[in-house]
Amino acid sequence: MSPRTPSLGTVQETLLIPLYGRAVEHRKPEPALRDPRAEELVAALDYDFSRFDGLPSLTGTVLRTVLFDHWTRQFLDEHPAGTVVEIGTGLNTRYERVDNGRAHWFDLDLPDVIELRRAFFPETARRRMIAASLTDDDWLDAVAGRADGPCFFSAEAVLPFLEEDEVRRLAERLARRFPGSRLALDSNSPEVVAAQDGHDALSKVEARLRWACADIGVVTTWLPGIAVAGSHTLADLPEDVYLALPAEHRRTIDDLARQRLPQVEGYRMHLLRLP
Ligand SMILES: C[S@@+](CC[C@H](N)C(=O)[O-])C[C@H]1O[C@@H](n2cnc3c(N)ncnc32)[C@H](O)[C@@H]1O
Repeated sequence: MSPRTPSLGTVQETLLIPLYGRAVEHRKPEPALRDPRAEELVAALDYDFSRFDGLPSLTGTVLRTVLFDHWTRQFLDEHPAGTVVEIGTGLNTRYERVDNGRAHWFDLDLPDVIELRRAFFPETARRRMIAASLTDDDWLDAVAGRADGPCFFSAEAVLPFLEEDEVRRLAERLARRFPGSRLALDSNSPEVVAAQDGHDALSKVEARLRWACADIGVVTTWLPGIAVAGSHTLADLPEDVYLALPAEHRRTIDDLARQRLPQVEGYRMHLLRLP
């Protein structure tokens, strides 16, 4: 089959960075995760991925995915038939890694991404795709029509591309419609957002970060009762996640923790419990 040229909008193109990160990781002798689908997808797309070769951020995207996988598994351990919603899914393969055979899964992204995704991933009774912006309202009905309990909303590397009021509105709408659910997300400090033109991976694409978050505690001022259940930098992962990583990755993390680089300290991943 000849490679398919991805025709993606500016922010949508960023999905190719974590995709490539997982494909590169998959080829390592001791990877933090295996992702044969990512390798297949990279081979099937006509895109110059070499622009991302050797970037430290590729390992960062993989460690982030490992943490989001961990949070998703924790949710499914408690709710084996629960509903997982990947908000801004890109060509993410979490379902392939984490599905337990009972969960219900929604993969949501903008229409051009879902069109591309449909070329590679099947829909089943338990796995659906939604072509929409997360700022729309209709998709909430589609999820609510299926979910009969708390959901796990995973927004990995998505909300930093939105304005703060859009992030706030999403959190408010999810809390109203899906009480007791969890939301995993990430954020960048104002310093990281200000310095983004020099960011190793972002400088290779046109999309730009918009939401600057000095302190995730701000969400508790948006929504009474919301709780920050976890907040981590790449240099400070939960101990069980860190200990399960291959030795080379643990060494990289130890180096990062020693260096206290502003771009590492200013990038955080959070798990929120909605009221
Ligand atoms: C850096 S990629 C991350 C993709 C995926 N979560 C992963 O980790 O592989 C950002 C994703 O957010 C999606 N996105 C950005 N704005 C969005 C919006 N308003 N609604 C839905 N998806 C959006 C993009 O299309 C893209 O797929």
